[in-house]
Amino acid sequence: MVNEHVQSFCLATAICLVVFLLLRTWKRRHIYYCAAKIKGPLALPLIGSAYVLWGHTQQLLETLIRLSNKYGTLYKFWEGSDLSFFASKPEEVQIILTSCSEKYQAIKYLNPVFGKGLLTLPAPEWKIHRKLLRGTFSHEILNSFVKTYVFYSNIMVEKLEETLGKGLIDVFPLFSLCMTVILCDTMMGVQANTMKENGYNLILRTARLGELGSLRTANLLLYPDILWNRTSMSKETHTILEEVQQFIKKIVETKRLEKAKNVACASQKPILLNRMLELEDTEEMWDEQMSLEETQTVLVAGADATTLTLGYVLMMLGMHQEIQTQVHQELDFVFGVSNRDVTLEDLLQLQLLERVIKETLRIFPVAPLVGKYLTKDIVLGKF
Ligand code: HEM
Repeated sequence: MVNEHVQSFCLATAICLVVFLLLRTWKRRHIYYCAAKIKGPLALPLIGSAYVLWGHTQQLLETLIRLSNKYGTLYKFWEGSDLSFFASKPEEVQIILTSCSEKYQAIKYLNPVFGKGLLTLPAPEWKIHRKLLRGTFSHEILNSFVKTYVFYSNIMVEKLEETLGKGLIDVFPLFSLCMTVILCDTMMGVQANTMKENGYNLILRTARLGELGSLRTANLLLYPDILWNRTSMSKETHTILEEVQQFIKKIVETKRLEKAKNVACASQKPILLNRMLELEDTEEMWDEQMSLEETQTVLVAGADATTLTLGYVLMMLGMHQEIQTQVHQELDFVFGVSNRDVTLEDLLQLQLLERVIKETLRIFPVAPLVGKYLTKDIVLGKF
């Protein structure tokens, strides 16, 4: 009697499972249809093609490039039951970037690092934030801060000069300090040296947060929280995050106080933080938390991207001495023997240097993978 019950139970479970799988397959038939057209590594049950990355997760990019060499510039990759396509042909990447605004879902794992701001928000919220903040990222505003960039860069160069003849040095802390101070001054209107209480140390910690975020993004196995939370990097992220959030609160509060006291701001320009504080008063949907999250996004993402790019540019110049000599000649041509500050007009003349920066960005992009979530069908080449 008991046996019969067990048998019936097993049969019912098996039937439910089969029905569930059939319904799921039917519901996802379009995904399977699209996947069938495009080549990619063999997918195993449950894990998909994730086995390809085992042991190679630190070299994610190399692995993805190797797969591209094998399967072509557009190939599929099953992460468990999730289907991804990797595209590297510029024309196809352009189609994806212009037709999809929803971010790859795994980007949410970067929220603790970059804050819930423009970089990681889902498309509906991103569109609203983007529209409200658009004016603060204009070329006009960026160009109006050339003197500020030069002021802090001169300090950085002086500090670099002090290290001459002292052998190998880690330029990351110095560069990231300079970039974060520039961002605080230009995007937030708060001068970092006015923030007492170990402000500088925290600035460096902000840069480390960006670095930890990049490490997680480059390692698919660290995406699930359950694995990430077990790493020392996760603990470090949380410790730094608490300190950085205090630091960010202080920046925002400093500005809010200025505004409340009606102090003539260091800058009356429509800079990001001024605009966000204005939105708190004028837009019902904009709250204080959003100002904090966007401040974190800009400080962490901005400092990380510019610090890394600057480092790569110098490395490229060091590796290609003949180009370095030509860049030097270009600088001599524009500045002669003068020690004067750089102006916007000078920058327009430094065309070889600009090409070096662009080529460096091409070879060492700070965001080599940009993930998008497809919400509609798109045509890529013959697919
Ligand atoms: C060398 C310098 C930089 C490079 C190469 C760079 C690269 C990028 C890339 C590739 C994206 C797109 C990421 C995606 O869609 O997933 C992005 C987005 C973003 N970056 Fe940068 N970035 C740089 C500097 C900065 C700076 C200085 C700031 C802050 C002032 C900044 C703030 C942002 C923000 C807020 C976004 C999200 C924009 C949006 O989706 O509306 N970046 N950056």
